[in-house]
Amino acid sequence: TTTMILDCDPGHDDAIAILLALGSPNVDLIGITTIGGNHSLDKVTYNARAVCELAGRPEVPIHAGCRRPLIRQPIDAAYIHGETGLDGVDLPEPSRPLAAQHAVDWLIETIMGREPGTITIVPTGPLTNIAMAARLEPRIVARVKEIVLMGGAYGVGNATPVAEFNILCDPEAAQIVFSESWPVTMIGLDVTHRALCTPEVQAALCGANPRLADAVGGLMDFFRSTYRDQEAFPDPPTHDPCAVARVIDPSLVPTRRCPIDVELRGALTYGMTVADMRALVDDSDPACTTQVGMGLDTKRFWALVADALARLG
Ligand code: BDR
Ligand code: CA
Repeated sequence: TTTMILDCDPGHDDAIAILLALGSPNVDLIGITTIGGNHSLDKVTYNARAVCELAGRPEVPIHAGCRRPLIRQPIDAAYIHGETGLDGVDLPEPSRPLAAQHAVDWLIETIMGREPGTITIVPTGPLTNIAMAARLEPRIVARVKEIVLMGGAYGVGNATPVAEFNILCDPEAAQIVFSESWPVTMIGLDVTHRALCTPEVQAALCGANPRLADAVGGLMDFFRSTYRDQEAFPDPPTHDPCAVARVIDPSLVPTRRCPIDVELRGALTYGMTVADMRALVDDSDPACTTQVGMGLDTKRFWALVADALARLG
């Protein structure tokens, strides 16, 4: 079992990532931290609570994090996720109050309080909280088992021709996270654009759990319509659960070890993740702590998501 913290900004695909983590028998989700990204911090935090309520797991601690990026002005993705950040679905009201402690303080306390090498962090939004935690308490870096994040790309971008949305939201924070010495796996658009939720996939997900079918169907219908209008995708790439899936079953996402940096100064390339794929690093080289996801076993990925949904009862 993997002890996991999900740092997210729900968000349609973040919602599926939460359900995957909660439903997986191999994940112990000890808490969710939220970050302004797809929409404001208040909206995405409410959404995270409502998704846990939907899942029948309202006791999962949820801590709200940073409202703004480190340096740049905030951006959002209402053009994809709607005005609530999670349009298209009626979720139950959260029954528990939001945890009082700031996400960054909770991350530090939790990581310092547990055995070193036991906590996996899965960020599926901008990286502000994680960068802040590393700066506030540098000792967490050596104690985190690994970071498996959805963000970036070594091919094309989505928010700009070369930058992916989560990284572009806070490129300076991303640069901090990639440059620290903890193991980082980047699950970028190269992987997640293979996770298209086709109508057939959607039917299988809805069939896996009749209780959740309306919610999952509503999420995916809305997500599909905005991706068709805004990005000319036939079906929505369901990014965030790919990072959770890589943790549950690494064989779903082959990786390659290589240095990764973030462009912070380019007029056209701000927020681009630059993966040095010149094969100068051996896959077993311990000096290089970053690796990139290279592909996805799409069929087994969706089977994993369906299985997790079914287990949510
Ligand atoms: C990422 O951006 C967000 O809109 C999604 O939730 C995902 O985390 C994809 O670029
Ligand atoms: Ca997200």
